[in-house]
Order: sequence, then structure tokens, then C-alpha cells
Amino acid sequence: MAGAGGVSRSRVEKAGVVGAGVMGSGIAEVLAAAGVDVMIVDEAPGKAAAALEQIASRQRARAAAGKVSAETVEKLLARIEPVETLGRLAGADLVVEAIVERLEPKRQLIETLEKIVGPDAIIATNTSSLSVTAIASAASRPQRIAGYHFFNPVPAMKLVEVISGAHTAPEVEHALVALAARFGHRPVIAADTPGFIVNHAGRAFGTEALAMLREGVAPVDDIDAILRDAAGFRMGPFELMDLTGLDVSHPVMESIYNQFYQDPRYRPSVLAARRVEAGLLGRKTKRGFYDHGDGRPISPA
Ligand code: NAI
Repeated sequence: MAGAGGVSRSRVEKAGVVGAGVMGSGIAEVLAAAGVDVMIVDEAPGKAAAALEQIASRQRARAAAGKVSAETVEKLLARIEPVETLGRLAGADLVVEAIVERLEPKRQLIETLEKIVGPDAIIATNTSSLSVTAIASAASRPQRIAGYHFFNPVPAMKLVEVISGAHTAPEVEHALVALAARFGHRPVIAADTPGFIVNHAGRAFGTEALAMLREGVAPVDDIDAILRDAAGFRMGPFELMDLTGLDVSHPVMESIYNQFYQDPRYRPSVLAARRVEAGLLGRKTKRGFYDHGDGRPISPA
């Protein structure tokens, strides 16, 4: 059934996920767990198939630990199909993009997707910090585009920000809210502002922690321990940056700073920039603020 602006209000049964990295694979996993058939695709050959293997090993470990039945896991895995071309997403009701955090590639992807999917399909972006309105600005049907911002790791972090851009149809926001309930995540509506809620409020902890490190106030593990154990955070700011990957979180800091017209409150850290250049990205490179072999903090550059 078509809603306002010709955007479907019907239930999502078939989805596509573009970008089979940390976030895309987690999004595919929760969608499949909710009974949605998911195709996952990545520009890097073989990456989508590798993502399915990782999901399979995570899920089979859960079954082995008695957290879920082996039958449920196999059904979930059977719903995920790695594909090698975007053209395979033609029949999807929803496509979620989780590619690199840069405006131009996201806009180009949406332009391409619009030629592939049907007119009623919803296209959602998992952007952390870019404007949903700007991402949708090249679209012929911007009313079908919205932000759907998940948290890492997606299956464990049971929240999702739902962001309407300037042209998003209310039906699209409602459909994404309803879908979140199916995979058991709490949807939180956020305005289309830089960093939405979490990366706006959370910036302060990341940038201030980096400033403290640079000023020599305390080492990374002490700053993390204080914020974790005294302030009640689940992980400290450096542990979080290592989990996210500085190649993702530093551009997010730059993007938020620039979108707020260089407000000094959001100024990114030179220390983070040097670490990106040094390849100290976090868990994905085994070394970041911590050495993920022996767990020791790595001194600032
Ligand atoms: P990632 O680097 O792990 O994965 C990105 C994947 O997209 C890569 O496999 C890459 O080959 C693929 N890719 C890049 N350009 C592509 C294109 N044009 N077409 C198809 N595939 C393409 O990155 P991650 O961490 O999964 O982030 C993806 C998105 O999710 C970004 O927008 C990021 O800001 C957002 N995000 C990241 C979070 C995190 O904690 N890492 C949290 C929430 C959102």
C-alpha cells in the first residue's frame, strides 16, 4: 500500500544492507533475527560472504552456550544472503546503507540505489554525523530517505536513533520505528542535527578525554577507569574509541565540528589525527589507545 509521497507503509519483509563492515553485519544480523530476509553487499569482493561467516560464528557460539537454540540460529543464518552486486537489491522494501562516513559516496550510493529499488522502498542511512537532508539531497524521492543510526555492537546495543530529514515522509519514520520494535531495539526520534543525540552529547567525553591526555592530566587507562567506575559509563572514552575505530570516530568529530561552524566546544584532537595517520585505529588494527594483544595502554604519539 502506498502512503503519502508514494512511500510504502507495509511491513518490511525483504531488506538490503550496503556495507558489510562492523555496522552493516550487525544490522543484517538483527534484521534477520526479526524474521526479515536480508541481502548484504559490499564494494570489496568477498566481504559480504566474510560478514556472514562472522555472524554465523557469533550465533553458533551463542547456541553452544545455550543462549539460543541451534534451530533458531540456522533459520536466522538462512535469511542472510551475501550478494556481490547492488542490482540484487531490486526487490527490497528497505535498504540500509552502512558504508564509509563521507557525504559524496553516500549521496552517490543513494542515486544508484534509486535506479534499482522500487518507488516505495525506504532507504535508510546509518550515518553517525552527516546531515540526513544533505545525504538525501541528490535523491529523486527524498521522502523515502531517513536516518537509522545503530550503535556498536548492534545486537547488544538495543537502541536506534530514527532521524527524519527535511523531506522524509512521516510513514517512513513510522515504518522504521515499527521495525525497531520487531528486533527489540528502542527507537529514539532525533532531529537532523550534527551528531543527532549520542554523537552530540557524547562528543564532550571523547574530545575532553583527548584534551586531558594531551595535557598530561592522566594516562588513558586511568581516565577510562574513572569514567567507567566512578561516572558509571559502560566503557571509558578511549575504550569506546578503540571499539568504534579512530578511522570512523575522528572523521565524525571533524564533521560535527565543521557542521557547528567550528564551535571550539567540538574541536577535534590533533592527537587523534596523528593516531589515524599512524594506523593506531583500535581493535580493528589490534592497536589503538590500547594494545589489544596484552591490554596495555599505548602512550600518546
Ligand atoms: P567499516 O569500515 O567497518 O565498514 C564499511 C564498509 O563499507 C567496508 O566494508 C567498505 O568496504 C564498505 N564500503 C565503503 N564504500 C562502499 C560503497 N560505496 N559501496 C559498498 N560498500 C562500501 O565501517 P563501520 O564502522 O561499519 O561504519 C559504517 C557506517 O556506520 C559509517 O557511516 C559510520 O559512521 C556508521 N556508524 C559506525 C559506528 C561504529 O561504532 N563503528 C556506530 C554507528 C554508526
